[in-house]
Amino acid sequence: MKVVVLKKFGSAENFEVIEKPVPSLRPGHVLVKIYASSVNPVDFKIRQGLLPIGPDLPAVLHGDMSGEIVEVGQGVTDFRKGDLVYGCVGGFSGLPGVLAEFVLADAQLLAHKPKNLSFEEAAVLPLVSITSWNALVDRAKVKKGQRALVHAGMGGVGHIAFQLAKALGAEVHITCSSEEKAIRTKELGVDAAINYKNLGVKDYVESYTDGMGYDVVFDTVGGSCLDDSFSAARVNGTVVSIAARASHDLSQVHIKSLTLHVVFMLLPLIMNEGRRRHGEILSELNKLIENNQIRPILHSKSFNFEDVGSAHNCLEQGNVLGKISLVSNW
Ligand SMILES: NC(=O)c1ccc[n+]([C@@H]2O[C@H](COP(=O)([O-])OP(=O)(O)OC[C@H]3O[C@@H](n4cnc5c(N)ncnc54)[C@H](OP(=O)(O)O)[C@@H]3O)[C@@H](O)[C@H]2O)c1
Repeated sequence: MKVVVLKKFGSAENFEVIEKPVPSLRPGHVLVKIYASSVNPVDFKIRQGLLPIGPDLPAVLHGDMSGEIVEVGQGVTDFRKGDLVYGCVGGFSGLPGVLAEFVLADAQLLAHKPKNLSFEEAAVLPLVSITSWNALVDRAKVKKGQRALVHAGMGGVGHIAFQLAKALGAEVHITCSSEEKAIRTKELGVDAAINYKNLGVKDYVESYTDGMGYDVVFDTVGGSCLDDSFSAARVNGTVVSIAARASHDLSQVHIKSLTLHVVFMLLPLIMNEGRRRHGEILSELNKLIENNQIRPILHSKSFNFEDVGSAHNCLEQGNVLGKISLVSNW
């Protein structure tokens, strides 16, 4: 089969297409013909050599995928040959990625593809959706009557997170850096879109919450955004971060008696513990997608697998709205 491999860590030009044997079937696994994938920041951070969770070189990267099951391993009962599936299945230490014609996927990590989405749309969802679910459902337990703030509302995680928070019944506000992003989020049902370039955290807490603060704040950016999240949360509120690898002053967490959660979505893949939950979350998500409560936004430009380097450059340069998809032409 054809695969895209990363020859060495560093530049986005270090990818190359080579031939490799199709993986052999194993119990608990399915062989999937891959139709589409996506680009997540973790993919280019691994490529750059910044994270210690990448596979050994030469490496097949990227975890998100949608495709069709072509073979079913012993013990797999939830899927049959011909099923259309999606999931985040590899591209990290010990698990080969999906920039290939086929991937051998742990069936626990998969769900049936939502019927109302294309392969391209479905493939951009798994990593960002499971992350959002971990943050807002499993940890913050967002519910009706609450007011939630999602930072970077048109980012990959942010645009799914705010739709999920809406589906859970909360009043949802987002922050973003441009009028264009604000308009797109409002079209998708956000209650208030705050351009953080025009309004600082103290001012928007005053204007949008009468100075009370938010019940739940989801930090999808990290750095000073996590500090702003502590400022934006109400007394006894909850902050969830997915980018907390830094030093922060916890004074406000103490003074306001906040609950702080940190989510690392990839742990079940890396540790091989709790993987079934990923498949379950995607199956739950399907209901919201097929009920038109959650819809992925695809960036205006998509790339094919051979052009993965250009797709990385595109995400790294910023100005991306929603998710960049990768489509297989193999
Ligand atoms: N811990 C986990 O499990 C987990 C899971 C998924 C992602 N992550 C991490 O969470 C972060 C967001 O992921 P994502 O998929 O949403 O990324 P993304 O699609 O690139 O979106 C990031 C958004 O953050 C905003 N932003 C603010 N300052 C930025 C800066 N200096 N550089 C880049 N973006 C900036 C941008 O929105 P504005 O232009 O509106 O500011 C951008 O749209 C990444 O660091 C990723 O690695 C962690």
